Amino acid sequence: MSEAADKVAMISGASRGIGAAIAEALAQGGWRLSLGVRRPEAMAPDASRLPCRFDALDPTSEAAWVARTVAHYGRIDAVVHNAGISVPKTVLDADDDDFDLLFGVNVKSPLRLTRAAWPHLVATQGKVVTIASLSGKRVKSAGSSFYALSKFAAVGLAHGLRQCGKEAGVRSTAICPGFVATDMVAARGLNMAEITQPGDIARIVRLVLELPPSASIAEIPVSWTVEDSF
Ligand SMILES: NC(=O)c1ccc[n+]([C@@H]2O[C@H](COP(=O)([O-])OP(=O)(O)OC[C@H]3O[C@@H](n4cnc5c(N)ncnc54)[C@H](OP(=O)(O)O)[C@@H]3O)[C@@H](O)[C@H]2O)c1
Repeated sequence: MSEAADKVAMISGASRGIGAAIAEALAQGGWRLSLGVRRPEAMAPDASRLPCRFDALDPTSEAAWVARTVAHYGRIDAVVHNAGISVPKTVLDADDDDFDLLFGVNVKSPLRLTRAAWPHLVATQGKVVTIASLSGKRVKSAGSSFYALSKFAAVGLAHGLRQCGKEAGVRSTAICPGFVATDMVAARGLNMAEITQPGDIARIVRLVLELPPSASIAEIPVSWTVEDSF
C-alpha cells in the first residue's frame, strides 16, 4: 500500500508550473488532493482531485478553501505553499504597492492559509512545505533583490512554523530552488532544458511529505548549477 493511503494534501497555485507538477507527483503516490487555484472551473475534478477557489490576494479565500477541503475529505495531512509571483525590481525601485502585491501573495497568504489549516495539521501530525527559493538564501543581484526580500520571509515562515509545530508533531520544510523551467522564468532567455524541471521539485516535495516525522528536513536548497554555497 502507498505511504500516502488516504492522506490529503492542499497545494496552492496548482494550475501550472511547479504546483501542477507537485499535484501530478502526489497523485501518483496515492495522495488525495485539494487544489487551490484562481479558476477551479478550468480544472476537471476526479475522485482524488478537488479543485477549489483560492486567490492569494483575497484574504477570505484561505479559510474558505480549508473549510471546503475538510468538508470534502475530512482531514488535512499536508499544506504545500506553492503559489507565488515575482516582481522584478530592486529594493530601491519597488514602492509600497509593489510591496503589498509581492508580500500579499508570497508571505501573507501562506501565513493565513497555515493558520486556518493548523488545527487539522495538528490532528494528523501533518506537514507544511513552502516553495521558497534560493533567493530566500542569498541575494544574487540588485534586480532580484525585491523578490528575494519576500523569499527570505518565506524561509523565515517555514522555520517559524517548524518551531511552532515542535511539540504537536507538525513538521515544516522550505524548498529553495534556483531557476526552474516554468512561465516565471520563460522570458529570461535561459536554456529551459538545462535548468531544474518542475518534476524535479515535485519529486523532492513528495519525498519530504512521505518521510516520517523522525526524518524531518528544515530546508533543501536545489540548484541546476554550482554556486559558491549552493
Ligand atoms: N520558476 C522558478 O525559477 C522558481 C524558482 C524558485 C522558486 N520558485 C517559486 O515556485 C513557486 C511556483 O512558481 P512557478 O515557477 O511554478 O511559477 P508560475 O509557473 O508562474 O506559476 C505560478 C502559480 O502561482 C499562482 N498564483 C499567482 N498569483 C496567485 C494568486 N494571487 N492567487 C492564487 N494563485 C496565484 C498561479 O496561478 P494562475 O495560473 O492563476 O496564474 C500559478 O499557479 C512560486 O512560489 C515561485 O516563487 C520558482
